[in-house]
Amino acid sequence: MVRTKLIAGNWKMNGDSRSIKQLMDGIKEQLDPAWQSEVLVCAPAVYLPLVVDFVGISGIKVGAQNLSQQAQGAFTGEISAAMLSDVGGQYVLVGHSERRSLYGENSKLVAEKFNAALTKGLIPVLCVGETLEEREAGTTMTVVKGQIDAVIEQYGIETLGQGVIAYEPVWAIGTGKTASPEQAQAVHADIRAHLAQFDAQIAHKTRILYGGSMNPTNAEQLLAQPDIDGGLIGGASLKAEQFIAICKAAG
Ligand code: 13P
Repeated sequence: MVRTKLIAGNWKMNGDSRSIKQLMDGIKEQLDPAWQSEVLVCAPAVYLPLVVDFVGISGIKVGAQNLSQQAQGAFTGEISAAMLSDVGGQYVLVGHSERRSLYGENSKLVAEKFNAALTKGLIPVLCVGETLEEREAGTTMTVVKGQIDAVIEQYGIETLGQGVIAYEPVWAIGTGKTASPEQAQAVHADIRAHLAQFDAQIAHKTRILYGGSMNPTNAEQLLAQPDIDGGLIGGASLKAEQFIAICKAAG
């Protein structure tokens, strides 16, 4: 089985109706239907309906960047999986490092969000990754496995296998400092080997994306690695030409 590559833009808290329309126009115009990869844009929640309208029949997938672990009720300010799904969302990021570090999300909560997404038919993208200190201390895989195991321990490997994993070394996010293709491949291969200890088939079919300063210059080499199944792109996803160049590199 060949894993379909996934190129996902994470717009973070950027843009407005006007710039988003421009960006979507640019992406749609330049998207080549011959490319095999799946293309996803993760927009700020309030703009999801706008983006869903815009993608129309282009085949571009739409996702959110966060969700509540709760199904519904008195949770002021939160947005449920059902709501995201109701307005046309198909994917949702969970456990992005910015959510973990700035909003105190721990791996148990992230696992709950992962599961909540699936209950409403959204595909969760579980973001994992180590800080620079953790890498330098040689604990990269301990950290990454811990973040993944939180889902497996609470909900099982079959649940994990219904989502996507994104390896995003914290030190490479928004820094212009990318993991080398070899560094990224090594972690991706270790993640897959770890999943295989639970279920070889799930390990083989699970898509593992790389994120962290991916751009048109480094995308091709990263995406050529055997265990890198796509990208989660921040900064470069805000410019149509750059995002498209990465989609093109994925083919
Ligand atoms: P940059 O591509 O801006 O480094 O961001 C990566 C990221 O956090 C995607 O989720």
